[in-house]
Parts: sequence; structure tokens; C-alpha cells
Amino acid sequence: MADTYKPGLGDFMETLQYHHSKLWFAGKNENWKLADFEIHELMETVEDIETFHAGRKDIEMINMIKPALDSVNNAIAQQNTDVFESSFSFLTNTCNQCHQATGYEFNRVKTPETSPFSNQDFRPIE
Ligand code: HEC
Repeated sequence: MADTYKPGLGDFMETLQYHHSKLWFAGKNENWKLADFEIHELMETVEDIETFHAGRKDIEMINMIKPALDSVNNAIAQQNTDVFESSFSFLTNTCNQCHQATGYEFNRVKTPETSPFSNQDFRPIE
């Protein structure tokens, strides 16, 4: 098992970054099925960080992201765009709070403006 590939923390962070982005476009398009998929991808990635980087000092505070993830998850369950937007801001702020706390304050996450994924349709199926 020693040479099994283990993604670095930075790789997992990039995974969080693209699911964070896709989550936003799914929610803005009221594509609640896709938003539900994306929030669970984020939750699973956090679990993977806990598994694969257990004991690492800079992930000690990983639990701080969970209330924000739960809050977005609830907004998706309610299919409420306003609640989705405010809980998404809460999530983004929490990403940045951890970056500040761990000395990576220069990695600033924000609400995306345009989708970098031109090969994915975020609209729900009519
Ligand atoms: C446990 C605290 C913590 C939380 C919570 C956290 N991050 Fe990070 N993040 C880090 C650390 C530490 C790094 C630097 C990782 C490294 O060593 O490469 C980082 C790096 C990053 C990077 C830079 C990766 C790169 O190579 O370009 C991005 C993007 C990022 N995080 C996105 C996010 C997003 C989006 C969220 C919220 C959904 C989030 N992070 C939540 C601690 C956190």
C-alpha cells in the first residue's frame, strides 16, 4: 500500500474549489438535484481530507466548515434561492476564515461570476 497514490491537501482543496463553483451555478439555476449532488461532493471531500490527512496541524479546524455545509444543504432541501445565497456566503466566508487561521489568507475564495465549465449545462431538465 506504501506506493498507493494519496492526493495532497492542495489537491483536495482544488476539488473543494470546483465543487464550490459548480454548487453556486446549480443553485442559481435552481437546479436543486445538481446542487444536492454538489453539496454532497463537498461533504465527501471534507471526509476524505479527514481520512487522508488525519493528524495534520493545518486541518485541525476542519470541523468549522460543517455547520456551513449543513446550512447550504438545508437551503437546497427547501429549494429556497434566497436562503441558498445567504448560506453560500456563509460557506465561502468559512473557507476564508480557515485560510486566515492557517496562514493561507492569500488563498481567497469568492462567489464565482462566470462558470469556468463551458462544457456543463447547469440548468435543470424541464
Ligand atoms: C481546515 C481549514 C480549511 C478549510 C475549512 C478550507 N481550506 Fe482551503 N486550504 C486550507 C489549507 C491549509 C490550504 C493550503 C493547502 C496546501 O498545503 O497546499 C488551502 C488551500 C486552498 C486553495 C488553494 C489550492 C491551490 O493549490 O490552488 C483553494 C482554492 C482552497 N483552499 C479552497 C477552499 C474552499 C473552496 C473551501 C471551502 C469550501 C476551503 N478551501 C476550506 C485550509 C482550509
